[in-house]
Formats: sequence, structure tokens, C-alpha cells
Amino acid sequence: MKQFLSAVDVPNIAELIAKARAHKAAPFASNHLGKEKMIINLFFNSSLRTRMSTEKAARQLGYDVITYDASGGWGIEFEDGTVMNGNTAEHVREAAGVLSQYCDILCVRSFPSLTDKSADYEDRIIKAFVEHATVPVVSMESATRHPLQSLTDCITISEHRKAARPKVVLTWAPHLRRLPQCVANSFAEWMIAWGEVDLTICNPEGFDLAPEFTRGAKVVHGQAEAFAEADFIYAKNWSSFKNYGAIGDHPDWMVDEAKMELTNNAYFMHCLPVRRNVVVSDGVIESDRSLVLQQANNRTWAAQAVLAGMEL
Ligand code: CP
Repeated sequence: MKQFLSAVDVPNIAELIAKARAHKAAPFASNHLGKEKMIINLFFNSSLRTRMSTEKAARQLGYDVITYDASGGWGIEFEDGTVMNGNTAEHVREAAGVLSQYCDILCVRSFPSLTDKSADYEDRIIKAFVEHATVPVVSMESATRHPLQSLTDCITISEHRKAARPKVVLTWAPHLRRLPQCVANSFAEWMIAWGEVDLTICNPEGFDLAPEFTRGAKVVHGQAEAFAEADFIYAKNWSSFKNYGAIGDHPDWMVDEAKMELTNNAYFMHCLPVRRNVVVSDGVIESDRSLVLQQANNRTWAAQAVLAGMEL
């Protein structure tokens, strides 16, 4: 892969899942790949899992790693032709070019504004780095997608499915803050592209995801209908795409034990971080059907398979 921004960049998702599982079985078998090479992880936003797992994956492949918190650095300008007499001090054309002098792979995390839908959905920040860097770029979450998380979720489902084609439900869940649609967009995109699950998405009216991500999935507006006979429940909050960035006031959408009773003894999944007893009850997240820590573990193997697959 020359870049890793979405499922479209992956020639064969099933093969990538198999490679990730091979890295999990033998973490240091490819530790020659990164010898005398450098990865830069550039974070414009907070992270626990992505930062730790991507660093761990890179080191297990033999790379050196520099992680940089760009939120405290020079303000970067992404608009072309602008007069930079405001708060930005360095244009992405220079920033991406400079970082390319110091590394062999550039990994970038940035969140959407949730105020400018068209700018967010053009994915301007990650695409500007792809355009102006001279090294391969890996998304560690962008304005619209979180592909490393989605690959992780494919791996986790592949490890736990009993049916060849399980019923997987992505359910909207409540939250106090407005959150990006990235994880949900990406989860739908990857499940559909993988093609080995039946995907149902349930969310309140007004919270349908962008149609480009949900084509091929069943979309319903009630959890009871969606949860029936489900094998996997994947909970996530997202703010409205239609009324861009709006928060939903639906506390009754929290995933609890009664709702899990409707399922086919489903596993519970969430990308984390999660707000307990807002998104999911203590009883569900602590149950033996909760896969949240297995997902966190699989972040390393997803990152390792992706970094190993980049064409340098
Ligand atoms: N799931 C996830 O991406 O976690 P972080 O935001 O902590 O990296």
C-alpha cells in the first residue's frame, strides 16, 4: 500500500486480517522490516490506544519512532494561497515536506471540526499530508474515518464469530459531547467491503450516517428490531451528519443487559474510550461477552499488518 486512509486502499481485507493474526501469533517475526528506518506519529488530537499500539507495532517491526504532539506546535495552515497573517505559522506544504526528511512512514491523527461539513468530508488535513509528503501516509484517524480501528474490529470479529456470516449491529448510543462520525463511518465501510458479515445499523431519526458509508447495510431506527438475533453489538455515539454536529438527547439508547437479552448471546464491542452508564451499563461492559480489551489488544496487530504492508 502506498497510503492507508480507508478500506479502498486495501487490496484484500481478508488477507490483511490474516496477516494481522499472523503478527499476533509471532510478534517479532518481521522485526527486520524497520531496521534503520523511522516512523513519525503526528497527533493533532488526543489518543491513548492509537498512540500506544502504533508505537508498539512499529517497534516490534524494528522501526525507530518519533511521536509528536502537533496540537502544541506551530499552527499549520492548510488553505492554499492564503495570506498567513493570522494564527498559523507554517504551511502544510513545508510541514509535510520537512517531516518527510525525517521518516520513512508518516502517520497522522486529526479530528473533524464538526462545524464545517464540506471541509470535514473533503478530509482536507490527511489529504494535504498525502499530497505534500514524499513518504507513505497512514491515517491514525481523520475527519471522516478511523481505518486502523476498523481493521481491528474486523480482526476481533473474525476471531470470535461462530457463524460464517454473523449478524453485526452498529448501534448509536448516547453521549454528552458531540463526537465525530469517523468510527461509525469507517466501521460500516469496512464491514461492507470485507463482505463476510450481515451489517445492520440502528440510530435515532436524524442520525443516519452519510449514505456513501452505509450503502449495502440495513438501516433501522429502533434498537429492539436491530438487536434481535444479533451476534455482535458494536456501540458508538456519533453526532448528526444531517444537522451537522448536533448532539442527540436519547438516554434510552444506552446498551444495557435487557437489550443484550434480545440478541443471540451477542458479544459487546466498543472502540473505547467509553462513558460507563451513559453509552453502556457496567453490567454489559464487564460481562464475559465484552470484547473491549480484546479490541484494544488487536489495535497493535492491525497497526503492525498495515505498517508492514506499506510500500517504501
Ligand atoms: N479507539 C481509539 O482510537 O482510542 P484513542 O482515541 O485513545 O486512540
